[in-house]
Amino acid sequence: MSDNVGVNSPDVPHPEALDPAVLHPRLPSPLHEVADERFARHGVRLLLKRDDLIHPDLVGNKWRKLAPNLRAAAGRPLLTFGGAYSNHLRATAAAGRLLGLDTIGVVRGHELADRPLNPSLARCAADGMRLHFVDRSTYRRKTEPETLAGILRAADAEEAYVVPEGGSNALAVQGCRALGEELSGRADVVAVACGTGGTLAGLAAGLGPGARALGMAVLKGDFLAAETAALQTRAFDGRRGTWSLDTRFHFGGYGRTPHELLAFADDFEARHALPVERLYVAKLLYGLVVLTEAGAFPRGTTLAAVITGRPFS
Ligand SMILES: Cc1ncc(COP(=O)(O)O)c(C=O)c1O
Repeated sequence: MSDNVGVNSPDVPHPEALDPAVLHPRLPSPLHEVADERFARHGVRLLLKRDDLIHPDLVGNKWRKLAPNLRAAAGRPLLTFGGAYSNHLRATAAAGRLLGLDTIGVVRGHELADRPLNPSLARCAADGMRLHFVDRSTYRRKTEPETLAGILRAADAEEAYVVPEGGSNALAVQGCRALGEELSGRADVVAVACGTGGTLAGLAAGLGPGARALGMAVLKGDFLAAETAALQTRAFDGRRGTWSLDTRFHFGGYGRTPHELLAFADDFEARHALPVERLYVAKLLYGLVVLTEAGAFPRGTTLAAVITGRPFS
């Protein structure tokens, strides 16, 4: 099988279709309070910021990050990177279908090229994304200019507009600033799950004084604070807002969802009729319950949790 699976959209995009605003995002996203005794008994009000309701296909932080990049791509094919279950790849593919843009997904794992597509990659291909599989060592080096140039050549995509893995570039971080602006004056602490730190970087910049952002890392490791700071520098020329990271709730690392976490997520869904995305949002909400029960937030705190995604179905 060739490394390229799926079809390029044959449509030439209409210029007016390139502004993602034509997709009618629900912005500002809804913000509502939920009654949960695990927070209430510590005097903490819990608000849910429903970014998962922004758009059915460009869910949560994906809308905020992709919209400015889609504008900047101005009709060029959009190439980006992800693992076999990447939310970001699916959202990019959906954006391509909706706006009539060609998309190319560079997927980690050359061996996947010879296997049937998993449901997540099958959705990408069905949305017209051309999939290009690369071996893990090349994938790790994809930000090095020579390696990137080689990938673009091999994918026959040298003209493409390139968006990094996870979608976090300066434009994406600037796009996430609106999340903070929507929450400004509405909460004392705003918490968000972090992969690359891009959403946190933008959120903190938009929040303004009097509130702080708390990032809950879903990956293991200590790189995230430096990454988040670097993203703020790229997007805003320096550190912005008040933010910190908690790295204790990764549950073993990215993609790890032990039984305790899944049971917590099932219970949260039942209590609040909220579809809980398991890789990011469940870890965020679990961490907030533990921190609240440990007295991390003073009585009278209004705590907003950003619901950045929805379970894949
Ligand atoms: C549902 C969800 N929440 C949070 C994040 C983390 O966003 P960031 O990479 O900006 O930290 C992601 C990243 O892909 C995500 O898919």
